[in-house]
Amino acid sequence: MTARFSAQKFFERLRMLGDDGDREVAVFDEIDSTSSELRRRLQAGAQSGLTAVAHRQTGGRGRLGRTWHSPLEGNLCFSVVLKIAGPIDETIPLLPLAAGLAAHEALTEAGAQPYLKWPNDVLVHHRKLAGILCEAVDLTKQGAWAVVGIGVNIAQRPFPPEISQTAIALNAMLEKDADMSRLAARFLFSLENWNRRIGDGERTAVVDAWRKAAEPFGRRVKVGEVTGKTVDLAPDGRLIIQDDEGQDLRIAGGIVESLDLF
Ligand code: BTN
Repeated sequence: MTARFSAQKFFERLRMLGDDGDREVAVFDEIDSTSSELRRRLQAGAQSGLTAVAHRQTGGRGRLGRTWHSPLEGNLCFSVVLKIAGPIDETIPLLPLAAGLAAHEALTEAGAQPYLKWPNDVLVHHRKLAGILCEAVDLTKQGAWAVVGIGVNIAQRPFPPEISQTAIALNAMLEKDADMSRLAARFLFSLENWNRRIGDGERTAVVDAWRKAAEPFGRRVKVGEVTGKTVDLAPDGRLIIQDDEGQDLRIAGGIVESLDLF
């Protein structure tokens, strides 16, 4: 059985990475959603760095109103409050990419060989290992705040039928069970590092690093009603797709479905 998330191990790992560990981590046996909880706490005045982890979620949320299945223990459900630095029109679109990069780094360190699908699905063998939900919550004169949540499939067990053909678990590709406290610490450390770099104006670095971590361009995809092939990532973080009429389109949101047969 995969070991539970341990706040002590999480802080130990953060300190080894060079973080001062000056943050609160709220750990729940069960909650509706770690991201919903942080949104509530943010409205009540929470600060950047506040982190929530749940062993089980009863209302896990995915992108675009989808459900994230997390009713059983053994998977990572983790969210953090971030203060978004820099001019928000430019930095907010890059945050989902930065979160994808952080997940890519953490899961690579854990022993997987993942790649990113725009904007931040983490895949292995065309199956989803981790999903990320980035929500800009509070855009006030005092600054912009986001809640970034990640769910990682860690434990090996049958998935619900609707995702059984599209999901994959981390432990299925490792020789020993993954350490989810260490994984969470590395994700957080990398995410805050990328967020800082975006705020410092290193926006090209995020786009370049994302391209390297992503699946190759040239894939046939469908986004909403548009079908075409992926071409590149634009400097502002949008996905460039050439549609079937040969026109280049820049995609800012939506689900990118793969049409290639593997
Ligand atoms: C997606 O792939 O659509 C995003 C899934 C994000 C799931 C995580 S689990 C922790 C946090 N709490 C939630 O309710 N959602 C995110």
